[in-house]
Amino acid sequence: MTIAFLNSTFLPLEDACVPAMDRGFLFGDGVYEVIPVYGGKLLRLAHHLKRLGNSLDAVRIGNPLSDKEWETMLTELVNRNEGADQAVYLQVTRGVAAKRDHAFPADTRPTIFAMSTSMAASADIDSITGATAVTLPDIRWKLCNIKAITLLPNVMLRQQAIDAGTAEAILIKDGHATEGAASNLFIVKNGLLITPPNGPTLLPGITRDLIIELAANNAIPFREADITAAELFAADEIWLTSSTREISPVTRLDDTVISAGKPGPFWRRMITLYQDYKTALRNGEAL
Ligand code: PDD
Repeated sequence: MTIAFLNSTFLPLEDACVPAMDRGFLFGDGVYEVIPVYGGKLLRLAHHLKRLGNSLDAVRIGNPLSDKEWETMLTELVNRNEGADQAVYLQVTRGVAAKRDHAFPADTRPTIFAMSTSMAASADIDSITGATAVTLPDIRWKLCNIKAITLLPNVMLRQQAIDAGTAEAILIKDGHATEGAASNLFIVKNGLLITPPNGPTLLPGITRDLIIELAANNAIPFREADITAAELFAADEIWLTSSTREISPVTRLDDTVISAGKPGPFWRRMITLYQDYKTALRNGEAL
């Protein structure tokens, strides 16, 4: 049975009900996080809580819990659910208001919801053959750095990618690749690892930051720079990264074969470093 947390109570997920007047339901007025758990340990919890705080500040919802309270609650949630490897989902909405009005209600208490589902063990590196992706116009709003639950454009874009028989959409805005529908973007060109700089056009991914850190610690040449659509198609390697997909090598983009149709050597190096980091986390030697 999956156990969830709602406001102040742990309960079976199927019993977790939110009133229809919740602003998350009516307006998509809330923010969220997804945190991977390996060996029962939350990966980069402090980074996720920092990003949650930034999202809450940006939409002017008061953080209902302190970092310590989040940690205590999420740790208990993980312990109450099955599996050493899990994906924690949490969201905070502006809460339940008496009437539907776009303007913020005066005194609502934010709604807190969290659940954790078991995650399959990552595939063996040698068995990973690569993913396909399509490019699509970035139809999202201008504050993509906020991890808002209002995900209709991302949902539409991901479905368009699936309908095209691919795994993910890479979004193009003003001639530049920003990120995936639910992932960050990296390319490798002539031995240099490149990802677009943080800003309002993309989500500051926690996996992205970890990869940048691993590159710096392992003398892998790296730069944050804009990536034009032409540079994307001419890349030696393309990766899509997220908490749940880790580092996914793209081997076909639209009709273009990338990296000779198989995961490239830089991806292999980075996924090995990433798996080593997860092992360190499991052993209590990393956060
Ligand atoms: N999404 N960009 C977007 C638009 C995302 O939705 C995500 C993650 C990322 C990667 O961020 P991180 O490395 O912190 O997971 C980038 C989550 C997994 C989701 O919506 O389920």
